[in-house]
Parts: sequence; structure tokens; C-alpha cells
Amino acid sequence: MASNLHVAITARGERNGLIQAEAMALTGGSPDADGVSTCERIDRIDRAAYVHRGVRIIVSADTIEELRDAIAVRANTIQSDRFRIDVHDPEGRSPLGRIEIAIMLADALQEFPDLGNPLHHFLVIVGERNLMFGEIEAESAASYRLHDNKPWTTSSSLDGRFSRALVNLVPDARSILDPCCGAGSIVVEAASLGIEAFGVDWKPALAGMTHENLAHFGYSGTVVQADSRSHVQYADAIVTDLPYGHAINADEGVIRAILEQCAGLAPRAVFVAPTNITTWLTDTGYANIQVHSVMKRRGFTRWVHVAESTVT
Ligand SMILES: C[S@@+](CC[C@H](N)C(=O)[O-])C[C@H]1O[C@@H](n2cnc3c(N)ncnc32)[C@H](O)[C@@H]1O
Repeated sequence: MASNLHVAITARGERNGLIQAEAMALTGGSPDADGVSTCERIDRIDRAAYVHRGVRIIVSADTIEELRDAIAVRANTIQSDRFRIDVHDPEGRSPLGRIEIAIMLADALQEFPDLGNPLHHFLVIVGERNLMFGEIEAESAASYRLHDNKPWTTSSSLDGRFSRALVNLVPDARSILDPCCGAGSIVVEAASLGIEAFGVDWKPALAGMTHENLAHFGYSGTVVQADSRSHVQYADAIVTDLPYGHAINADEGVIRAILEQCAGLAPRAVFVAPTNITTWLTDTGYANIQVHSVMKRRGFTRWVHVAESTVT
């Protein structure tokens, strides 16, 4: 059976709600336990943190033999010069090994393989209900990895992958403000994507680190040392990891004041906190709040809130 379906292949991790949230924001699809989702678009996968690939499905079938036969029937319509075939079978459902599957299906194609430098890269997806064969048309550039080598980080700095996923929760934003930027992990990710990036931190040393981290990679952005309870910088979206000590409640007054100020600065916001702060958000001018939890290690969970301002 032929189809025009697109699917995305994402990282797997049921403890990381950001995977699902990023996939939905970038592709419009929600991955299953295999990390597979049918999706509306694949053109934003190059910027993804957890979405690995976008695949145009060419044929699907119930068994590997039927898949081979379906490919053979359509072989003259499948561009396959210098091809490579990989297999996505995270649950090990296929009785055949990856190489056996690739060899079997390669025989059904008309051109020759080139594993080292393929022109057409195909993927076999071994699902619970069927098998799919498609061509990989989009891949994450994983450029966030480069940013883990930035000159400055602190003990509360986020890694590049997590920061990138946060930025991707507001994929249409052309400008992003991080009002609590620390050493600038989020600002660097936003700037690297060509988004107009603003960073604010009330500690001069931290504002300086963000500035130097941006300069290190040659990215442009605006960094200001200021108190975000009163500083004004409008943007399409706010993305920030809120300040917290060992007890977030100790900082409640400061955080609520920052949230209240932020609600007047951008229509959408992504707030990370060590606890679910939905009630604080509703109190300070936010609605339509989605919450995603990310379990980092035993006893420590980050809560990612995506919210719309009712003020702007
Ligand atoms: C959790 S850290 C951010 C870490 C950052 N995402 C990074 O990767 O380095 C929170 C930051 O908020 C800053 N901060 C706290 N209160 C602030 C305020 N009222 N105005 C501006 N910055 C503030 C702190 O100095 C701290 O750097």
C-alpha cells in the first residue's frame, strides 16, 4: 500500500515530557512509545533537540516479505541511486537483524547502495502494527551540542539540548527574552537559530558571562544587567529558567514579581521551575498553561510551563 504519510522519529524517554512537547511544537505529531509519530510538517526538524528525523513514507505492509514485494512493485518510481537503508526497531520486534532487513529490501531496489555517502537514505520502521519504508528527508543538525563547550557555565546552567528544546516550544517566536539568563544557555540557543535574543540578569558577572558566551560563537544578542522585576524588554516570547535556591518558596516574592513583569512583555512564555508553579502563573496574568515534567535524577524534577499572557 502506497502512502504520502510523513513520520518523525524522536528520542525515547517517558520521564522527559519535553520530548513530547518539542515534537508537538515542531512537527504537530505526538510520538508513541517507539518515538514514532505521524506529523504535519518536517521542515523544522533541523533545529530540534529531541526529534531526530523526518521520514516520507513510501510503502507500508504487515510483514517484511510484503514490504519487500511492495517496494519491488514500485521500484521504478523510487529514486534510489546510491542508497542506504537503516532500521528503526527499538523494541527488537523483527526476528531478522538490521543487516538482514537492509539486504532483503536492497534487493528490491533497482540502483546500487552507497553506505558511506548515500544520496538516498531510507528507513524501515518496525512498528507494533505494521512495517513502514520511507526516505529520510529531514534530520536534526544537533548544533546545540557545540554549545556545551561554551567558555562560561555555572552550577545552575542548563545544557544545550535542554535549552534548545525550551526555545523550540515557541517555534514561531522571532524574538526571545530570557529575564533570568545566568550564563546564557537559553540566549545562546535562541541566537544560534537567528532569533533576536535578549538576556537579562541582575548579577553583573552573569550578564558578562552570557555576553562572552555569545561572542565566543559569533552570535549576536543583547545582554543587560538589570532587575527583571522592573526591567522592560518586549519580545515575542519569554523563555527562562527561574531562579531558585534549595527552597523555591524562599524566592517566592521575587519570582512572582518577575512573572508579573513578564506577563506584560510577551504574549507567550516558557518558564522552568523546580516545582509546579501553575497557581503562581494564573495569579500573575497567565492562562492556557501546559505543564511538562522532566525527571533529571532521583528526587529532582524540572517543571516546564508553557503559558499565554492574558495581559499583553
Ligand atoms: C536558574 S539561574 C539561570 C541559569 C541559566 N539558564 C543558565 O543556563 O546559566 C537564574 C538566574 O536568575 C537571576 N536572577 C534572580 N533574580 C533576578 C532578578 N530579579 N532579575 C534578574 N535576574 C535575576 C540569577 O542571578 C540567576 O543567574
